[in-house]
Amino acid sequence: MGKVYVFDHPLIQHKLTHIRKKETGTKEFRELVDEIATLMAFEATRDLPLDEIEIETPVSKTKSKVLSGKKLGIVPILRAGIGMVDGIVKLIPAAKVGHIGLYRDPETLKPVEYYVKLPSDITERDIFVVDPMLATGGSAIEAINSLKKRGAKRIKFLCLIAAPEGLKALEEAHPDVDIYIAALDDKLDENGYIVPGLGDAGDRLFGTK
Ligand code: PRP
Ligand code: URA
Repeated sequence: MGKVYVFDHPLIQHKLTHIRKKETGTKEFRELVDEIATLMAFEATRDLPLDEIEIETPVSKTKSKVLSGKKLGIVPILRAGIGMVDGIVKLIPAAKVGHIGLYRDPETLKPVEYYVKLPSDITERDIFVVDPMLATGGSAIEAINSLKKRGAKRIKFLCLIAAPEGLKALEEAHPDVDIYIAALDDKLDENGYIVPGLGDAGDRLFGTK
């Protein structure tokens, strides 16, 4: 079974409170999503392998650690996942970015795929799938199905807010995937919105309605 990490870091909790508030406007919402994604990436990269190299400081020779050069990929689920990409790329500038376009059919709440563009060496990369919201879990499950179908093997999923229903569904569908969540909320409402949540992440991020 994959691991589930729910963050209790004060900076993440503080920033989440502000993005949840209904009066928070698009500019601040975007900045905070970016910052939370950076903080989450810091934790989600904790197991990256290191190599030891020899360097020379102004004082002496020493052995010191560098990243081993593992190839990483970031795959946002469109649209709202885009808001998390830059915050992660800041820490991992060599990562390649793929895109998976999915929207939730408002009637059935089932995800509909409309776009897929991935790095050509997807089979060799460790992949971070990112989306601010894990509600029913349908979008995340479908995005990961799509990646696995194309040969992706090692996948982590990062989201800001999850509903217990979505978390359970994702764990059952993809038990090999580690899941990183900034906050685990109470439930879904009858329209498939996370309660208390933050509303429609894509609309708040891009100022649409
Ligand atoms: C939102 C969100 C997730 C999905 C989560 O996207 O960004 O992708 O809903 O819901 P689920 O877990 O029930 O699938 P939406 O479909 O609203 O599309 P958008 O990002 O284009 O606004
Ligand atoms: N998608 C969102 O953007 N918000 C929710 O609460 C659920 C799905």
